[in-house]
Amino acid sequence: MIRVLSVASECAPLVKTGGLADVVGALPHALRKQDVEVRTVLPGYPAILAAVDWVDDVMHEDDLFGGRVEVFHARAAGLELLVVKADHLFGRDGAIYLNSEGADWSDNAERFACLSWMAARLAVEPHGGWQADIVHCHDWQAGLVPLYLRTLPGGGRVRTLITIHNIAFQGLAPVEKLERLRIPGWAFTPDGAEYWGKISPLKAGLVYADRLSTVSPTYALELMTPAFGMGLDGVIRERAADLCGILNGIDLDVWSPEHDGSIERYGAPEGKAANKAALRDLFGLPEGGGPLAVVISRLSEQKGLDLLIEALPSFLDAGGQLALLGSGDRALETRFRDLAETHAQVGVHIGYNEALSHRMMAGADAILVPSRFEPCGLTQLYGLRYGTVPVVALTGGLADTVIHANDAALKRGVATGLQFAPVTAEALKGALARLVELHAQPEVWRTLQTNAMSHPVGWESSAATYAALYQDMMAPA
Ligand code: ADP
Ligand code: GLC
Repeated sequence: MIRVLSVASECAPLVKTGGLADVVGALPHALRKQDVEVRTVLPGYPAILAAVDWVDDVMHEDDLFGGRVEVFHARAAGLELLVVKADHLFGRDGAIYLNSEGADWSDNAERFACLSWMAARLAVEPHGGWQADIVHCHDWQAGLVPLYLRTLPGGGRVRTLITIHNIAFQGLAPVEKLERLRIPGWAFTPDGAEYWGKISPLKAGLVYADRLSTVSPTYALELMTPAFGMGLDGVIRERAADLCGILNGIDLDVWSPEHDGSIERYGAPEGKAANKAALRDLFGLPEGGGPLAVVISRLSEQKGLDLLIEALPSFLDAGGQLALLGSGDRALETRFRDLAETHAQVGVHIGYNEALSHRMMAGADAILVPSRFEPCGLTQLYGLRYGTVPVVALTGGLADTVIHANDAALKRGVATGLQFAPVTAEALKGALARLVELHAQPEVWRTLQTNAMSHPVGWESSAATYAALYQDMMAPA
């Protein structure tokens, strides 16, 4: 039995802004079958405090960054949690990272340093007889844990892993906060936690953790290049020997057409026509013989949806339809709303809607993911599961999870979707034209759907890989 303390800023189904939450919420269940016991350290946002069953008080600190902090053991959604209750830092309504103007909370550095500090203490102070062997840190919000452990007695006993879900977020803070954040002076150097004169919690994690991982093998390689490393590629290259890429899975109890409570008609290909008709109704789309493609996404530069706007006219001319669910960048929201107003073949829902996302997956012919970079990506995995053919940029986890329908792959009967490169509007246009062409050939299309549906997308294999990694980390050096 290996005991893992997982540290993260979000966790589905309790609080979610993206795929990180899905991974943090699903992996512990899959690891249980691998004889790994996980406790997850989370910030005590109001939504979390309201959802959990209290088990026990664990520890407290009278004054951390201006207020009292308490950690309690709790349960929710089948997960063992350690909730860091700090009302002065987490007791706010609204988005978890952003204020009402859409800007980062000015004390995000303190908020997640608090999470990391308490997690480091939890790792070295056994609670209720439970002592962690490994701390698994997720993204910059948990990046300071390995550094804090170096300052705590007994910290050297615990092994640490940091997983990069998205290097675009690094949590930089001004040097003036060094002492306040309890970062020792010796660590503020270019080969430590300093990044061009600022404090970088993510870099601290990359430098001081025993091992590094990311969420696909291709992204692990991309991260070591200037084009994808976002200024940290050199740091990651230095640690190449300690880095690996492990693909995300999806929770098949939540995402499976056979037992998806959000949809009325089950299963593709048989149920697809009825689900598609229902989806057209939801988005006010007319009848039509062409493929209905969906997008379910944060609207940000990363996701490449501006390329889709450019590529869309020729797809619509060829009989394609688009239904988009997303929110984020205000300018993109407006552009998609305008498209829906001027084109009968386009339906847009701006917002976040979990139930609708399931209906879209069930009813669509294709899911589009034209990302400029994508560490893993989950929606193409849902697509595979629902026979909703993924059309993806050839990058990161999208490259690792979809088998491109070129002539050879079609002939051998292994293709599961379409990939395009380079990530430009022109190449996307080509992929959409190919989508229309394949969709018009019922036999080919059906093979593509059934191949997609039989592609393994659950957690089993990746959970075994994480368990092996933890095991390896614990082996004496
Ligand atoms: P990222 O984490 O970069 O946003 P992923 O593909 O890993 O990308 O995960 C995104 C997750 O968020 C998926 O579960 C997806 O279904 C969900 N999602 C994104 N936008 C929305 C939305 N507007 N409504 C419902 N779910 C959404
Ligand atoms: C990030 C990435 C996404 C990945 C998710 C979970 O948000 O953008 O590609 O699937 O984390 O690891």
